Amino acid sequence: MTTYLTTGCAGFIGTTFVHYMLSRYTDIRIINLDALTYAGNLENLKDLEDDPRHIFVHGNICDKELVAKLIADYDPDYIINFAAESHVDRSIANPEIFVTTNVMGTVNLLQRAKEAWYDAGQKTWKSGKKYVQVSTDEVYGALGAEGFFTETTPINPHSPYSSSKASADHFVKAFHDTYGMPVNITRCSNNYGHFQFPEKLIPLMINNAKNHKQLPVYGDGMQIRDWLYVEDHCKAIDMVATAGRVGEVYNIGGHNERPNIFIVKTIIHQLSERLHDPEINEGLIKHVEDRLGHDRRYGIDPSKIKADLGWYPETTFEVGIVKTIDWYLDNQEWMERVTSGEYQKYYAEMYKNR
Ligand code: NAD
Ligand code: DAU
Repeated sequence: MTTYLTTGCAGFIGTTFVHYMLSRYTDIRIINLDALTYAGNLENLKDLEDDPRHIFVHGNICDKELVAKLIADYDPDYIINFAAESHVDRSIANPEIFVTTNVMGTVNLLQRAKEAWYDAGQKTWKSGKKYVQVSTDEVYGALGAEGFFTETTPINPHSPYSSSKASADHFVKAFHDTYGMPVNITRCSNNYGHFQFPEKLIPLMINNAKNHKQLPVYGDGMQIRDWLYVEDHCKAIDMVATAGRVGEVYNIGGHNERPNIFIVKTIIHQLSERLHDPEINEGLIKHVEDRLGHDRRYGIDPSKIKADLGWYPETTFEVGIVKTIDWYLDNQEWMERVTSGEYQKYYAEMYKNR
């Protein structure tokens, strides 16, 4: 039986990772540590309530005693850290929590794993253990019109979010370089798919358009993101954990670069057609004040993970975006529940001066 201690798996990508793993492997168990912040939602894991292979633990990755106890009690083979404050706009408004969770939380996980796995006298590590840090392409900064991020592109983050993720990556590397800790770092491009919290571009636009609300496009809308269907990201993390060369960084992306305005228009046309609703049209688009320090373009070169591990993306954007829109239309109660209460305050505050 292989044991995973995962963190942040009541959020968007982690939820999909848990489902992905449990649907593919029988002889595994996943200990899922999550603080259930605004972005965490146990409803996403409701279908696993009676599955003994999934053990949910409500707690914080910064909690030293709890993390040490989970490692002692369950003796995980892998620790995979998804937990993070993940929204750039929130980091611009309030950077401090990003340092606490993304940097201090990561260091706590590394330190507790080292205490359990490292024999300082012999300078050896228990065999079969690995720590995987789920990072982001944003640590590389922004690209011009040409070129792609490779694993050797210099780290050059701009936002408080990406700076905190870059800092965490440096600590992971430091634990490898200093103590020989078995680690990998993955750096993926923008994910989309089901269960994504509607403060991020795609679910926010789906929700607003469906309700005939304005579609707030930052600046000229020509910023480019490299979109990957979330299950393809989860497949890559599984492959890196089990087969990635220790100490290596792997970029993950499917060469699917699109300007934001293209994404918004695609959502409008798909929704309008599906709902037979002519009021969902491009007149809803409103160009609003740009994000501070807005990165212009991201683009991943995935050659290394393809060559080393044979990973490739299975879902094209054309298929993935339709699946995603259909999921949100089929799960309107989910959307209504997550956008009630606190979300309304968030939206009013974030968009009031735009
Ligand atoms: P998310 O915001 O949807 O989910 C984050 C999860 O972490 C939530 O369940 C939340 O409750 C939990 N969490 C937050 N703080 C915590 C803490 N202190 N202790 C324990 N749990 C905590 O994020 P996501 O989009 O699923 O991203 C997951 C990871 O993948 C993040 O590390 C992010 O940086 C990275 N990433 C995201 C994308 C993307 O496009 N969403 C792309 C590349 C990398
Ligand atoms: O590249 C990977 C990163 O992708 C992850 O590390 C982050 O966790 C994830 O949130 C995502 O960051 P982005 O900032 O790219 O995602 P977001 O969905 O917030 O924005 C996507 C683009 O759309 C970005 O250029 C800003 C723009 N945007 C976003 C919102 C919410 C708008 O134009 N209007 C909006 O209302």
